[in-house]
Amino acid sequence: MTRHTAQANFVDDAERLIRLLQHYREQSVSRQRPVIQLPPLGELVERLQLNAPLRQGGLQGDALEAFLERYLDATTRLHHPGFLAHQTPPPHPSGALGSLVDGFTNNPMAIYEMGPPAAAIELFMVNWLLRQVGWTEQPLSPGAAAGEYAGGVLTHGGSLANLTALIAARSRIAPEVWRDGNPGDLGLLASPQNHYSVARAAGILGLGTRAIESLEVDALGRIRPDRLPVALDRLRDAGRRPMALVANACSTALGLYDPLEEIAAFCREEGIWLHVDGAHGASALLSPKLRPLLRGIEQADSLIWDAHKMLLTPPLCAAVLVRDHRWLDQAFEQEASYLFHDKQQPGVDLIQRTVECTKAALGLKLYLVVAALGETGLARYVEEQTALAQQAWRYFNEQGDFSCPAEPQSNILCFAYADWNEEHLALRDRLIEAGDFHLSTARINDRWHLRAVFMNPQTRMKDVENLAQAIRKAAAE
Ligand SMILES: Cc1ncc(COP(=O)(O)O)c(C=O)c1O
Repeated sequence: MTRHTAQANFVDDAERLIRLLQHYREQSVSRQRPVIQLPPLGELVERLQLNAPLRQGGLQGDALEAFLERYLDATTRLHHPGFLAHQTPPPHPSGALGSLVDGFTNNPMAIYEMGPPAAAIELFMVNWLLRQVGWTEQPLSPGAAAGEYAGGVLTHGGSLANLTALIAARSRIAPEVWRDGNPGDLGLLASPQNHYSVARAAGILGLGTRAIESLEVDALGRIRPDRLPVALDRLRDAGRRPMALVANACSTALGLYDPLEEIAAFCREEGIWLHVDGAHGASALLSPKLRPLLRGIEQADSLIWDAHKMLLTPPLCAAVLVRDHRWLDQAFEQEASYLFHDKQQPGVDLIQRTVECTKAALGLKLYLVVAALGETGLARYVEEQTALAQQAWRYFNEQGDFSCPAEPQSNILCFAYADWNEEHLALRDRLIEAGDFHLSTARINDRWHLRAVFMNPQTRMKDVENLAQAIRKAAAE
């Protein structure tokens, strides 16, 4: 194939793809296709007809279009109003165009020379996020390296962001750790409601999960500030020093916010690094109405914030932010002569702040979404999704045959049908089979609940009412 035909194919294929995606969106929003299908893996591989083009190639034009139709038809449809399962939004189309630009241009911008506009936009958007927290923005001129200002970097997801923040926390308490390894007496104060990536980070960091001291929480899993001294005593009695305390804003299962202001006061008093996992809930900072839920956030030492959750950005795009940039700048020490050397530097190499070497132009996707919707548009989205969860909470409570363990503070709602427990697992499977609703489940206080995450702006109260009916029907069956 000549270069010319490859380019002609690209334009033709791209035009077909955009039309298919538009059709896909319309079909999903109007519920013409099931929200989810779960065929057996082998059967799906057959249905997708993956094998044929592998040897000869040529999956372009009509054949590519047919393949993409098969692929799209089998997807889990986040654009469907019955999609309520996980913390993943239907991404804003402008962000999806950013993914295409990034995929095409391939500017791995962790070193400035490999993508000056991508790097500039990442720093610019990190500053935008820092501004929402109330932290001092990082200067964008390369000469201004010293001084007290905040900093951050975008990572491929919140799990990596949590890990990165804890790497920074570790190097503050143990500055020699990079050379000498873990001192052996480091501990982590963590909520039992923390996302599993926090415990996983403890494993990856070589602390071991035994280094985690579980904080006491109230009946809904929120950290109890009055019990923090006791937890710290337990950690110290076990011969450990607190490397960090990890709080939630908000928690994954119930979507509730820990009382950050009181926790921050305790951490300041005791000189403990406060890390706030705001992967899901930090986006409430954009809304004057919801922002009080995060009161005290500005006193944290680090924060993570997933743009691919409530900022409607296509995956993956998360931020790790630190109140003082030096903690992140000193977190990694590496030598690689082909990348790191003294050079004329008109920009900034972000590679010093991240686990990753090749890093996608994550800031571009985020920028395109924020620039399309504006801060006010995004704030409205967060507020409306939260209001919908609260309306659904009121509705389920009024029904008599449903109950909810907690009033939602975010767009996450857990609820139970009748006095059911494990039965909710089979009920969820039944709903998946029917294809109108996709929910998740969560264990709250040792009982299984159904869990709805209102991410899709197309979901309405009518869908919640239909969901209640669908649950009753599935339960009766
Ligand atoms: C509170 C919290 N932290 C971290 C994560 C992990 O983020 P990611 O899926 O982007 O790795 C999640 C994901 O659901 C989360 O809810």
